[in-house]
Amino acid sequence: MDKQKQIIEMFDQIAPTYDSANRILSLGIDVAWRREACKKAFEYFGENKPSVILDVACGTGDMILHWEKNAKKFQKDFGKIIGIDPSSGMLEVAQEKLKNQLKSRKAELLLGEAKNLRGIENQSVDILSIAYGLRNVVDVKEALSEFARVLKKGGVLVVLEFTKKEKENFLDKIAGFYTRNILPLIGGLVSKNYKAYKYLPDSIDGFLTSSMLTQELSKLGIHTRFIKAYSANISTLLIGVKQ
Ligand SMILES: C[S@@+](CC[C@H](N)C(=O)[O-])C[C@H]1O[C@@H](n2cnc3c(N)ncnc32)[C@H](O)[C@@H]1O
Repeated sequence: MDKQKQIIEMFDQIAPTYDSANRILSLGIDVAWRREACKKAFEYFGENKPSVILDVACGTGDMILHWEKNAKKFQKDFGKIIGIDPSSGMLEVAQEKLKNQLKSRKAELLLGEAKNLRGIENQSVDILSIAYGLRNVVDVKEALSEFARVLKKGGVLVVLEFTKKEKENFLDKIAGFYTRNILPLIGGLVSKNYKAYKYLPDSIDGFLTSSMLTQELSKLGIHTRFIKAYSANISTLLIGVKQ
């Protein structure tokens, strides 16, 4: 089976326990990373009301809930929200969760990969987010050009991703020890799938560094306007604006 199919199948397997494992493993810190991502995206988007937000690799729908919550918090209304993910297992959990928790609107959920955003028209998206999803995308360059295709001029790209270190300092070593040794044990216990949680540190190691990602995006006309690593450099937020 090809690598991309294996990754998607792995998410299908861990989907039922994904949210509980995530809550324990992130110790709730991801809430602040996601809030900051929404806040910065609204800032860079400017005064107008975003009519379409697309969350790629939406998984169980967390980022969709954060868009809604933070739009209220930062008084930024938006039109519709679409989530897309290739794992039907993750989408099933999202469907159920959003039905109960998404208060002000209905999200449209689509099955699909980042490299092929079928059903999303050229230059139709105001804000495109991908949270902890990009490192799972095998054909990352194809995915980034899809993002450039669907984003409107002036549209905002939001990437949240675990940081691949160009050079490790002391704090990075501690964070690295946690993700390489502790996280697979806890994630494995909760999901009964050690392999899936062992995959996380491996996927970070195999991913692009922030400067490589910035370079790739700029070739596509998406200029990085903000990039910052949070919480001992564990998570990086990148905000790009399409020219
Ligand atoms: C770590 S989860 C993150 C989910 C969600 N964005 C969040 O913040 O909780 C990664 C997601 O990427 C999805 N994924 C894997 N391969 C993908 C691909 N080629 N294109 C888009 N999404 C993909 C998985 O199905 C999974 O839902």
